[in-house]
Amino acid sequence: MLGRQKFNMIVISSALQPYFDRFCYGYTASGLWLHSIAVATSAWSIAEELDVAVESGSQIYVAGLVHDIGKVVLTDLLRQRGEQIDLERTPDEPPGLVELERETLGICHVEAGVLLAERWNLEPAVVRLVESHHLPDGSADPDAAILHLTDYLLASLGVGYRENTPVETPLVPSALDQLIDSPDFLPLCEQIALRESARSLAIVEALV
Ligand SMILES: [Fe+2]
Ligand SMILES: [Fe+2]
Repeated sequence: MLGRQKFNMIVISSALQPYFDRFCYGYTASGLWLHSIAVATSAWSIAEELDVAVESGSQIYVAGLVHDIGKVVLTDLLRQRGEQIDLERTPDEPPGLVELERETLGICHVEAGVLLAERWNLEPAVVRLVESHHLPDGSADPDAAILHLTDYLLASLGVGYRENTPVETPLVPSALDQLIDSPDFLPLCEQIALRESARSLAIVEALV
């Protein structure tokens, strides 16, 4: 039987689909939706694997789903202003995507995502995770480190991204330090990210 927590996750995912499942710069068609589901399910699986965040499994899942929701806001803003983010200007070196967003619009997707998450009255813990998904520096919160690592792994795999989209931000090494000191840890997380990417792709293809 489906657990209550998993059922809640399915309901939340379905409710959010219309916000994500549309064009967004840097992603393929439905790419942002695919990326968001893959980050949410991978982060939750990694948290379970590490036996951390047991209490907050739903928080890390929701944060994984909405961590890039600010890109939806910025996509609308770009359309209203008739502007574009020049994604091919600097494919592999700084400034990364966050800086390009700030240069073009004066705001990045992290800041826009936090504003929207607050407006939606999401839990403060979820808002903090959205805020720290690129730079969990100084955060002792293992959930923040897991979300940051997962987002980085999925971006590295290119799941949902168009070719040549610049890296958003590199992996912050202190995020790994907070998790586990084992040589098997990173390969295990990569395996989980690959597995969840394939599952997420199947879900998205079945729904669109
Ligand atoms: Fe992001
Ligand atoms: Fe992301």
